[in-house]
This record gives sequence, C-alpha cells and structure tokens, in this order.
Amino acid sequence: MKKQCLERKVRPLLIGKQSAISTEEKNSLTFDNIVGDSHLIRQALEQSQRFASSLANILILGETGTGKELFAEAIHNESRPDGPFLALNCAAIPKSLIESELFGYDNGAFTGANKNGSLGKIELAQGGTLLLDEIGDMPLETQAVLLRVLENKQVMRVGGKEYRPVDFRLIASTHKDLQTAVKNGQFRQDLYYRLNVLKVNIPPLRQRGRDVIILAEYFINTYCDDRFSKTKKLQLSPAARDILLKYDWPGNIRQLENAMIYALNMIDTDVIAPRHLPDEIIDSIAQAGTEVQISGQRTRGSKVIQFGETEQTCSLREAEQTCIIKAMIKSGNNIALAAELLQVSKSTLYRKLEMFKAQE
Ligand SMILES: Nc1ncnc2c1ncn2[C@@H]1O[C@H](COP(=O)(O)OP(=O)(O)OP(=O)(O)O)[C@@H](O)[C@H]1O
Ligand SMILES: [Mg+2]
Repeated sequence: MKKQCLERKVRPLLIGKQSAISTEEKNSLTFDNIVGDSHLIRQALEQSQRFASSLANILILGETGTGKELFAEAIHNESRPDGPFLALNCAAIPKSLIESELFGYDNGAFTGANKNGSLGKIELAQGGTLLLDEIGDMPLETQAVLLRVLENKQVMRVGGKEYRPVDFRLIASTHKDLQTAVKNGQFRQDLYYRLNVLKVNIPPLRQRGRDVIILAEYFINTYCDDRFSKTKKLQLSPAARDILLKYDWPGNIRQLENAMIYALNMIDTDVIAPRHLPDEIIDSIAQAGTEVQISGQRTRGSKVIQFGETEQTCSLREAEQTCIIKAMIKSGNNIALAAELLQVSKSTLYRKLEMFKAQE
C-alpha cells in the first residue's frame, strides 16, 4: 500500500540510477540518511526530529534543491512509519485539477471524470503524511478549502455531498517567502498561521561550509560505477575542492548532485579536477574575480566578462583574458594544461599572462 501510494519525481537516468537515494531506501529513509555535518544542517535535523514526535503541521522552508522533500520523508518515517506518504507539488499541477487531486471527486463531478469517482491525496494519506510541496503556489480558492479541512479534520470530495473524517499529518514546503505572499494578497493569512506552527529552515548549500565536500564525495561514491577502478577511490583534486567551496550553488544539493554526475562522465583518471566540472560553475568562479596563480605571482580575474545569454559586447583583449582565466581555473593553475586547453604554446600563455599583469 505504502509503495503504491508513493509519488516520486523521476529524474533523468544519468549513470544508471535515478537518485543517490533509491526508492526502496526512501521508503525507509531516516534522519541518518541526510548527509551533512554543518552546524546549520544539524540544527535543522535536531528540530525536525523533535517536531516528528508531535502531530502538529510542519512548514519546511528552503531554497530549491535544498532537501525539503527528503526532510519531509524522514519526518514521516520517524512519526508515522506504518502509514502512507504522499506528495503533491502545487506548482506542477494545473489549477483546474488541484482540487480534485487534493480532495478527490464523486461520480459525475465533471466531464471526463472517472464514473466511480476518485479518492484525493488527503484521503489517500489517511493514517500517514501528506506533503504539499510549493504550497506558496496553491490557488487562493483551494487554500480556503484546505483551511476548512485542517480545521474540521474532514473533507468533502468535489461534487460530493458528505464530509468524511480524515486523519493525516500535513507537511507543507515552499521556497517562497510566505509572509511576503500574505502581504501581497497571494496567500491567506489564516492558512499561513495554521501552517506556520512548527517551522524548519533548510539552509542553502552555500551556507553549509564543508558539507559541500562531504556531499560531493557522497555523490561520487554513490554514482561511480563499474567503469571506475574498484581499488582506487575517486578523489576531488584540491583545486576542484576549492572551486566547489567558492561556488554559490543556486540550485543547491540537486545542482551539486548533477555536477558530480557530469564530472564522473568527464573524467578519464581517478581524480576529478576543475576541467571536469560544468562550465556554468567555472564561468561563475571566473566572473567572481578569482585569483589565478602564475609561478608564485598572482593576477586577478576580476575584469572577466561572462558569455552566454546575457552576452555583452567586449573587446577582443577582454575576451582573450576571459578565456585565459577560465583555462587557468579549469587547469588548476597548471600552465601546461591551460596552454593545452587554449591550444597555444606554454610560452605564448606566459607572455599573455605577463601582459595582463602589466595592464592591471
Ligand atoms: N542532505 C542530503 N543528503 C543527501 N542527498 C540529499 C540531501 N539533501 C538533498 N539531497 C538530494 O538532493 C536532491 C534534491 O532534494 P529534494 O528534492 O528533497 O529538494 P527540495 O528542496 O524538495 O527541492 P525543490 O525545491 O526543487 O522541490 C534529491 O536528489 C535529494 O536526494
Ligand atoms: Mg521538493
């Protein structure tokens, strides 16, 4: 029953697995499966563990990809392990369908509906937990009905005539600032107070310090497959670590997971170096004004111009400087490798770097 009810996002098959945590593991996922050792993540874990033992609604806040769903599943498995866990992403479902998905519908409720009617997620979550992901995107009319369900602990199906008692634990999550949404009239204040009883903040990856490395290594170990040596452990080079720590990870753990999968597809040795990381990361680091070392001397990449969608006109000299800085970052400040990436001789690269230094 529990497995059938579970709804999972299916992510692209990249190296033979859909997620670092398999569906079977997710069914029994506990707080121990949540990787990380930073102060902020330990705080979120402690809070969630404490809240799991209560029956009150929980609001999980955090940027995209920070692990909100993972936390919701761990809370569920800790508090109601024998009941079903269901998730509904309010942003991913058309407005016209959200009420029937959530509250179910009775026979003949609307054209095209199943003639026997259908149970909604709330009834399906009986005795278990319902995660309403991206609750900030729920239409105002649906918010009003949800509030009534939470207050009365009963639900009426769309087109139905009777109320049915429901017993479920609600976990709501969002990356939006709900208080601002309330101020702007996009979110009901009464529902906000109802949901905001126990609040957990999941920190963004850029605030989690060395967790970036712990998580990167966790993903490398999980996703490395038979193509890699069984005896030698895959490693991140010091320069790659440095870049992972400096980058600001707007897509958080999901982006890191995908970056590691990308790197595993790029390497030909057992060391992941900067040149194996996705370009968006190198571009961002280059733009941030990273220092590039040349034979003990340093030059700054602060004038670097980023290419891509926001392309802007720049001089040939600036474009050349950008390419060189990126090659130096990708090569981990290795002149020979950078020259190879740029397809110039080492002496040409030295000359250009000296020239840039002189112009600073
Ligand atoms: N602490 C963690 N340890 C291991 N894997 C993690 C951790 N946090 C997140 N992940 C992985 O990162 C990915 C994103 O996590 P999840 O879907 O829970 O994030 P989310 O905050 O719900 O994202 P969204 O805002 O896009 O809905 C998943 O593949 C998840 O398994
Ligand atoms: Mg989510």
